[in-house]
Amino acid sequence: MNENMSEQSMASFIHGLPKAELHIHIEGSLEPELMFELAKNNGVDIAYRSAAEVRAAYAFTDLQSFLDLYYDGARVLVEQDDFYALAFAYARTASAQNVRHAEVFFDPQTHTDRGVSFETVITGLRRAFEDAHRQFGMTSKLIPCFLRHLSAESALETLEQALPFKDWIVAVGLDSSELGHPPTKFAHVFEEARRHGFETVAHAGEEGPPDYIAQALDLLHVSRIDHGVRCLEDPDLVERLRRERIPLTVCPLSNVKLGVFPTLGDHNLVELLDAGLCVSLNSDDPAYFGGYIEDNFLAAQEALGLSRSQLRLLSRNAFEASFLDEDAKQVLIAELDRYSE
Ligand code: ADE
Ligand code: ZN
Repeated sequence: MNENMSEQSMASFIHGLPKAELHIHIEGSLEPELMFELAKNNGVDIAYRSAAEVRAAYAFTDLQSFLDLYYDGARVLVEQDDFYALAFAYARTASAQNVRHAEVFFDPQTHTDRGVSFETVITGLRRAFEDAHRQFGMTSKLIPCFLRHLSAESALETLEQALPFKDWIVAVGLDSSELGHPPTKFAHVFEEARRHGFETVAHAGEEGPPDYIAQALDLLHVSRIDHGVRCLEDPDLVERLRRERIPLTVCPLSNVKLGVFPTLGDHNLVELLDAGLCVSLNSDDPAYFGGYIEDNFLAAQEALGLSRSQLRLLSRNAFEASFLDEDAKQVLIAELDRYSE
């Protein structure tokens, strides 16, 4: 690294920045090459002939057009070792981008509905992240998400399946098709999850209105909002998010790929930061949206002209918003504070 930090290029500053990732769907890190390999191993038919053809198909118009391909791609994940391979590949890439800690979503119902057990999924993921910790030093936590297009009863069954693995799970989340599936639908299951000691998070205000963010806070008692970018449409809500220091896990490349903003230059990240909100940067579904966390930092910096102190703040916010204990957070924040001083 350059001795004179003021001359350090922006790209190398971003690369070396100690990071935490709080919004990554592990199924969304399935690269086409691994998709082909697993399809072959498991005898699963897929609609494409090459990795290039898969990537060419990733032209989305909105969240649903992405979700249709994303759930279809996940059919190749069958054995425990498939989940291991998926998670270990993500951890290797994330670590190489200086991710020190990741809180990783997975969608149990996408697998259990095909006859793959919750145990198969979580055991493969857990083994991979344990190995990644030993090999790369990256820590992680797991967050199963309920699919909001399915029923509250199905979410409750999923919660029950998660209970034997309680010690491996930090929180439960809510994802999938947002419009028409407001948080209120899941108030009871989130209450049950909290009763069992889980933290809670939810996607809200990605495509859905600001009211879904308020519902996630009031009815699901979430500690973080995933996306949340539509909060700016409601100044009172912004003030509440600022006052209560509710973190937003923002995913710039995802937002552009899914048409939430026409271009990265139109993204409201700087307004969110200027409003004093605890915003972090994340990749969401890196294999589908054109990049991992470092690519999100690089693209956002370039499109929005982010300064080094804004980039550093995004990283600090991620450490603060994580579910790490206070001591572990302070170790990482101290590492960040030492970075390039
Ligand atoms: N599942 C995976 N990625 C998602 C996103 N961006 N929004 C909602 N559900 C998702
Ligand atoms: Zn997401």
